[in-house]
Amino acid sequence: MKIIKYYVLVLASFLITSCNNGNEKNLALNTTTTSKNSDIETKVSDLLAKMTLEEKIGQMNQYNGFWDVTGPVPENGDQAKKYEHLRKGYVGSMLNVRGVKDVRAVQKIAVEETRLGIPLIIGFDVIHGYETLSPIPLAESASWDLEAIKKSSEVAAKEAAAAGINWTFAPMVDISRDARWGRVMEGAGEDTYLGSKIAIARVKGFQSDDLSSHFSIAACAKHFAAYGFAEAGRDYNTADVGTSTLNNIILPPFKVAKEAGVRTFMNSFNELNGIPATGDKYLQRDILKGKWGFDGFMVSDWGSITEMIAHGYAKDGKQAAQLAVNAGSDMDMESYLYVEELAGLVNEGKVDIKLIDDAVSRILRVKFELGLFDDPYKYLNETREKQVMGSQEIHDAVLDMAKKSIVLLKNENNLLPLQKEGQKIAVIGALASDKTSPLGSWRIAAKDSTAVSVLEGLNQYSGNTITYSKGADVALGKTEFAIEVNINNTDKSEFAEAINNAKQADVVIMVLGEHGYQSGEGRSRTDLGLPGVQQQLLEEVYKVNKNIVLVLNNGRPLTITWADDNIPAIVEAWQLGTQSGNAIAQVLYGDYNPSGKLPMTFPRHVGQVPIYYNYKSTGRPTLPGKDVVFWSHYQDETNDPLYAFGHGLSYTTFEYSNLKISNTFSNDETIKVSVDLTNTGKLKGKEVVQLYLKDVFASVTRPVKELKGFELVELNPNETKTIQLVLTKAELGFYNNQGEFNVETGDFEVYIGGSSKTVLTDTFKL
Ligand code: BGC
Repeated sequence: MKIIKYYVLVLASFLITSCNNGNEKNLALNTTTTSKNSDIETKVSDLLAKMTLEEKIGQMNQYNGFWDVTGPVPENGDQAKKYEHLRKGYVGSMLNVRGVKDVRAVQKIAVEETRLGIPLIIGFDVIHGYETLSPIPLAESASWDLEAIKKSSEVAAKEAAAAGINWTFAPMVDISRDARWGRVMEGAGEDTYLGSKIAIARVKGFQSDDLSSHFSIAACAKHFAAYGFAEAGRDYNTADVGTSTLNNIILPPFKVAKEAGVRTFMNSFNELNGIPATGDKYLQRDILKGKWGFDGFMVSDWGSITEMIAHGYAKDGKQAAQLAVNAGSDMDMESYLYVEELAGLVNEGKVDIKLIDDAVSRILRVKFELGLFDDPYKYLNETREKQVMGSQEIHDAVLDMAKKSIVLLKNENNLLPLQKEGQKIAVIGALASDKTSPLGSWRIAAKDSTAVSVLEGLNQYSGNTITYSKGADVALGKTEFAIEVNINNTDKSEFAEAINNAKQADVVIMVLGEHGYQSGEGRSRTDLGLPGVQQQLLEEVYKVNKNIVLVLNNGRPLTITWADDNIPAIVEAWQLGTQSGNAIAQVLYGDYNPSGKLPMTFPRHVGQVPIYYNYKSTGRPTLPGKDVVFWSHYQDETNDPLYAFGHGLSYTTFEYSNLKISNTFSNDETIKVSVDLTNTGKLKGKEVVQLYLKDVFASVTRPVKELKGFELVELNPNETKTIQLVLTKAELGFYNNQGEFNVETGDFEVYIGGSSKTVLTDTFKL
C-alpha cells in the first residue's frame, strides 16, 4: 500500500513539472542518461522532503541478518530492537540475509509495514561467486584475462541476484606488497596498472550496463584506503604511507573504479597517517566525493565507526558517529551508532542536517538506480532462483576462469603435461582430496564439500593407475571461524604410508599449501612456508622419488625456495573454487595449456617482504666493488625474488624479437611499441606480452620499472605475430608530492617480454 501511495505522489509531481516546463523537458530529453538521472534526482528529493529525521537516519543504518527471518518475531534483547527498527523504517540496508524466501521476509516488512515503504538494499560479500565459486580474486588476476574476469563477476552477480542480493561488497581493489597479509587473496595483487584494469573488469561484470537488470548487482570498491599497506602484514594494523605511494600506487584502482561507474565504496579498518579511514575527511570528502565527484554512497566497514574509539580517535560512540558522518561515511555497518546517536547530534547542532540529507540522497539514488522502487520484489523470484543457482552457464564460466588462473612456475625436462596412459601415479597431500578448501575463506553461501577435488579431477582420466595417501594434514580446525585452523600441525604419523606409495610410482603429484581458511581476513602469517609438516613431507618423499609435480593450493605467495631448487615441476593452483579439481587435471594432462602469470612477487624468504617488482632504485643499488658491504642488500639472501611479478610458463615456448618504438608522440598523443612474438615450441599456447616503462629521472624518483600495457596473445607452433601496444602520454605521468599529476619530459626506457624480468629494451625521449 505504502509504495503505491508514494508513487501516486511522485507521478503527480512529475505531471505538474512536465506541464509547467515544456522547454526544459525537451532539453532533458536530449540524452537518455540526463533524462534518466534527472528523473531519479527528482524522485530522490521528493522522497527526502517527506522523511522525518529518524527515517533519514534509518536509511544510513545497516544491520546484519538478525533473526530467523521466517520464524517467530523476537520479543526481547537486541534482536527485538533490530526488528522494531526495521518496522519503523529505521533500517536502510541489511547484509547476510540471503535466499529469496528470507530476503522477501525482510523486504516485505520494509515495504509494507513502514510509513514510507522504502525498500531495503540487501548486501552480501559476493567476492568470487555466490554459491558456485570462481577462483579467489588473486588467482583470477593471474589470468590477466580481463574478459574472463568480467565474465566471472557477471555470473557471480547473476547467481547472487537470483538469491535476492542487490549489492556486493566487492571488488577489493587494495594493492598489497606484503604476502603476510591474509587478504592478498582477495585483491588483484601488487601492481597498480594490472589492479586498475581488473577493478574496471570486475565493476562492469557485477553491474553490467544496466544496473536495474535483475541479473546485475551494485558493486563496492573497497577498502578506502591503504588497508593493503597494514604494517608488518598484520590485518587491521596501522598504515603509514607517503603521498607518493598513496597517489601513485594505492588510489588509482579506486579512481578508475569510480570512473567505471561503481556505485558504492567501503572505507577501511586501518588508520592512515594517524586518522582512521572511517573518520578521514580528506579521503572521503575531499578526494572521493570532491575531486573525483563520486555520487554513490560510502558504507563503513563492519563496526569500523565504533572501532575509532579503540584507535584512540573518538572518546565515545557519540563522537565516533559525529566524526564518521562529518568525514563522509554514509552508512553504518554494524556499529549501531548512527541509529543511536545521529538524531541527538543533529539536534545539538553538532552535525549539519545537510550532511544527513546528502548521505540519504546518495543511498536513495542507488536504490532508485537498482530499480528497487519500481519493484522491490524484482530480485525475488523462486523459479529464477532455482534455475540460476548452480546452472551450467555458471559452472562453465568458473571452470574456464579456473583453468586460466593456473600458473606454471617450473617445468624441468617437460615433466608436464603428464602422459595419459600407462603411468603409476601417487597422489599425496591432504589438500588433494579436500572438497572444501578450494572454496577459500569467502564462501558464506557455498556449501561445504562442493568443490571438485584434485583427486576427483585426476580420476576422470582413467588410463593411469592412481593411488592416494594423505601424508600430512594441512589443518585441524573445522569451521570458518575456528580461527585456530591449525597452521602448526605436527603430526607425521602418515608419512610412512605416503613414502611407500611414492616409491612405487612413476610420477608423484603432491598437492600442498594452505587450507582455504588459512588465508583471508584475519589470517596473517609471519612465516610464508608450507604450513605444518608439509615441507618435511615433501623432502621425505623426494628422497625416494624425484619425479615430483608439486601442485600448490594457497591464497598468497609462499617461500617455496627449497622446492624450486629441487622439485622439477611446480604448478600454482591457488584456491580455484568449485571446479578446482577439473581445472587442475586438465592442465596437468595438457588438455589446457597454462597461460597464467603471477600478479604478485614470490619472495625467497619472508625477510624480503614487502617485495615487489616496481621498487625504487636507492642510491646504492649495486655492489660497488669486491667485498664491499655498503650497498643496499642482505647478508644472508639475495635481493632477487623467487618468482618475479609477471612470471609464468607454458607447455610451449615463446621468443620476443624486433622491438620497435614509433619515434615521437603522434598527434593523438600516443607512442606505439611493437614486438614480434613467435611460438617456438610444439604446442598452441597463450602468452601475456607485458610492456614496462622506466622514467629514467624525474622530479620525484620513479620505480625501476612499471607495467604500462599488456596483451594476451594465442599462437600456433611456429607462428609469429607483431604485437603493437600503445602508450598514451598520460601513462608517462605521475603524481608529485603536492598531489598534482604531471607528465615530465626526458628519457624513458621501454621493456617488453613475458615477465617483469624481461631485458628486451629500447629508449625514447619525450
Ligand atoms: C570486511 C569487509 C566485508 C565486511 C562484511 C568486514 O570484516 O573487512 O570486507 O565486506 O566484513 O562482511
